[in-house]
Amino acid sequence: MTAVPGDALARPEPRGKTGRLKSLVRVSRYLALRKVSLGVVILFFLIGTVSFISLSVMLGIAVNSLTVTSATNNLYRIVLIMTGLSVLSFICYYTGYYLLADVTQTALFRLRQDLFEHMQTLSLRFYDRQPIGELMSRVTNDIDVITAFFQQPLGTLLMGIFMLFTTLAAMFWLNVRLAVVAMIAIVLLMGLVWLLARVAGPAFALLQERLADLNGLMEETIAGEKTIIAYRQQMHMAARQAGVSEKARDVGVKAQVLSLVINPLTVLITNLDVGIVALVGSVMIVRGTLTIGVLTTFLSLTLLFVLPMLTIFANYNYILSASVSAGRIFLILDETPDVVDRPGAVDLKPVEGHVVFKDVNFSYVPGRQILKNNSFEALPGQMIGLCGPTGAGKSTIINILTRYYDIDSGLIEIDGQNIYDVTQESLRRQIGVVLQEPFLFSDTVMNNLKYGREGVSGDECIAAAKEANCHEFITRLPKGYDTVLSDGGNNLSQGQRQLLTIARAMISNPRILILDEATSNVDTRTEKNIQAALKKLQEGRTSFVIAHRLSTIRGAHQILVINQGEIVERGTHDEMMSAKEFYYDLYMSQFKGRVSEILSD
Ligand SMILES: Nc1ncnc2c1ncn2[C@@H]1O[C@H](COP(=O)(O)OP(=O)(O)OP(=O)(O)O)[C@@H](O)[C@H]1O
Ligand SMILES: [Mg+2]
Repeated sequence: MTAVPGDALARPEPRGKTGRLKSLVRVSRYLALRKVSLGVVILFFLIGTVSFISLSVMLGIAVNSLTVTSATNNLYRIVLIMTGLSVLSFICYYTGYYLLADVTQTALFRLRQDLFEHMQTLSLRFYDRQPIGELMSRVTNDIDVITAFFQQPLGTLLMGIFMLFTTLAAMFWLNVRLAVVAMIAIVLLMGLVWLLARVAGPAFALLQERLADLNGLMEETIAGEKTIIAYRQQMHMAARQAGVSEKARDVGVKAQVLSLVINPLTVLITNLDVGIVALVGSVMIVRGTLTIGVLTTFLSLTLLFVLPMLTIFANYNYILSASVSAGRIFLILDETPDVVDRPGAVDLKPVEGHVVFKDVNFSYVPGRQILKNNSFEALPGQMIGLCGPTGAGKSTIINILTRYYDIDSGLIEIDGQNIYDVTQESLRRQIGVVLQEPFLFSDTVMNNLKYGREGVSGDECIAAAKEANCHEFITRLPKGYDTVLSDGGNNLSQGQRQLLTIARAMISNPRILILDEATSNVDTRTEKNIQAALKKLQEGRTSFVIAHRLSTIRGAHQILVINQGEIVERGTHDEMMSAKEFYYDLYMSQFKGRVSEILSD
């Protein structure tokens, strides 16, 4: 048994043998995408194997012809035929493998494509359920395992299976009784494999678990290197790594020793089998029921027939891990998106920006309600401020307006149209979002801007950049607009990244705008720039502004104060300041904070 490198068997899915077999069959169906090629591969492998097995039969015929006097002519002919068969089998195998490469690469291409495309359709709820890091390593690992299986062992296995059946057929055709005797080896080998599966199997599973722990720790360590250095935890992490690594080593030794025993054992079984066939065959020759030639063929077939079995056993681990990985990939492929367009959903017509929430209730997970009976109205062009303590549900209101999540009950309308009657695509096209964590792609500055709207021209982008106060710093970058942002914009400051996302939102030219705490962690000058850019962006648009610092929403037409998912107070800044309730307290506490900040400076 061979261990699969960089193994993803790590956390086997609790799906059992039938589940694994089903996944294997299902992933193999991808091979049928190239039907003709696959058919030709099978045909060539078959011809190749039959020619190969015929060599043994010819060998028997040659031996038999030796016992007849003056048979040299015959012998020359036989040798010639054998040479021909060898060449034929080589050509067939070679061509078969050549075509198989095309079949498997096409299958892998389709599988990767299907997976990626499907993941694009899944709702955010799916991504909430699993840490992104784990999801990513799982998907890449699983694809790697299937790739490894398709590229290497698959061909060998196919050949092995053909060889096994052709040899068996030849044996039974030649002599049924001796064929049955030779099959003793199958029984013995099966027993051995069963034993190893019982003993070595769990050891391997444990080893893979340990290796997964090790990989996890390594990933975490490297990702958190900055924090580790800051807290001077290098030695501690090294010690932890050593501990986990040692466990993997100890389990590895056990698993490997067990799996290494299989080789000497199979050699023993093969030799025993050949011995038994020779013994029984000799007795049959003495009794005159068998010719020497047939026994010669049989002995060579016995050796040939153990060979493919060994190949199959040796690749058992690959088959197992490929089926587990396939199962996990299908788990994702079978996931249905929970936010879907209604049948007959129409495009949202260009809107003015009149947004209405009526008695909206929402929960991320069933049974834990987050938003309770939210009702409010935003008139076209108005600025609505959202504030309240952390975890109150401010971002959640935005998440359901954009239909990242579906509500439990209630009604959300834009210009009188229920957002559940329109397509998600047309809805989101009219809503622009600027998030606190500005997300930029590892692409050029220009292309990042172009994400704003399909088909936008470079000049329009530059105009927007000027409007958003980023043209100046972009032109100072080494390659201006063609500068590639490394690692999602790590080579820009936080403020610059925010300005870029504002420019991107301007380009998308939405009627409704969402700003989720877009100003924080930047110096005063940048903040002024950002504020100015945001002001321009808000002009003539309905905007929802989530702010922790209440000063940013002082000028809002209406401020909603959210607490534990409920709108506890609403009004303008001035109205609520004189009411001296929740908002007043919130404002005063922040103000006090600011005063002590200023005093301590
Ligand atoms: N994806 C999610 N899955 C489950 N629960 C969530 C999810 N996102 C948020 N929550 C929960 O919903 C509640 C409201 O979260 P939300 O992000 O709306 O708060 P917020 O008012 O925006 O807070 P902050 O000011 O810190 O950004 C919190 O209790 C949070 O734990
Ligand atoms: Mg939030």
